[in-house]
Amino acid sequence: RSGATPRHFLDLDQVDGAALTGILDLAERLKDQGAARAVGRDRPLAGKTLVLIFEKNSTRTRVSFEVAMRQLGGDVIVLEGDKSQLGRGETVADTARVLSRYVDAIMIRTSAPEKLAEMARFASVPVINGLTDVAHPCQLMADMLTLRAHKGADLRGRVVTWAGDGNNVAQSWVKAAARFGFELRLACPDPLRVDRSVVDWALAQGARVVEGTDPETLVAGADCVVTDTWVSMGDKDAADRHNMLRPYQVNEALMARAAPDAVFMHCLPAHRGEEVTDAVIDGPQSVVWDEAENRLHAQKGILAWCLGD
Ligand code: CP
Ligand code: NVA
Repeated sequence: RSGATPRHFLDLDQVDGAALTGILDLAERLKDQGAARAVGRDRPLAGKTLVLIFEKNSTRTRVSFEVAMRQLGGDVIVLEGDKSQLGRGETVADTARVLSRYVDAIMIRTSAPEKLAEMARFASVPVINGLTDVAHPCQLMADMLTLRAHKGADLRGRVVTWAGDGNNVAQSWVKAAARFGFELRLACPDPLRVDRSVVDWALAQGARVVEGTDPETLVAGADCVVTDTWVSMGDKDAADRHNMLRPYQVNEALMARAAPDAVFMHCLPAHRGEEVTDAVIDGPQSVVWDEAENRLHAQKGILAWCLGD
């Protein structure tokens, strides 16, 4: 291998806006060619292997990456964190060095962002962030595909309101607002606000990010309302979180304040009756199944970008 830095996909503030838009464009092209890819007529990643490391649970990320890699002609190995030597204390750095001798790319879902950074530092192949406690950039690529499909390719001037916990997915929405130019309104209880440094970074990029604690005001006229679970993987004090977040539930009354053609998004898994009601997630404004499908197309764009020539 040459000594060049691999093309990592670590976070939306670490890949420039033009490259991110290029990945979305590529994902849309691959989506249109879906059937051809599925029957393997065109196999751009033939001979390449991706390892997926999970130190936290997953359904969508695991299956969409695996299917994406296979449809592009490549192979996949899934490593459960607790079944590998990582779970017995082998360092991330040593794991990165070893895996780089076998595979062409590494996706990791882990808690600490420091572990992701260590993987990227010591790997000689591209590393992809499959979610940490502070970011979920692959999810946002699927979300941008979904928003583009429903609201047009140019997202500038659009308004998205996040109602709920200022968690990893919310932080990635903030970075996406900076990269794609839509206005993001964050309605989060004060103790659960998005990390200050993430908002400051976005504002410094010229992003329009508004913060507040009143979802009803912040959702007024929005083109998209988005939320996520009140208790993320690894979160403690579930009862306190439920108490703080109950007023942020996305229900029909809240949706009625958004634009009439507003869409509802959720990365899933959903906790029905908590952050979102059945009437909203199963209702006509919900695009969550398109959003979930777009994980597959987004992963293809990301993989092709990381592994392309
Ligand atoms: N949205 C998402 O990342 O889902 P999984 O946890 O099932 O991968
Ligand atoms: N915020 C959630 C997202 C799951 C895809 C979590 O981290 O558990």
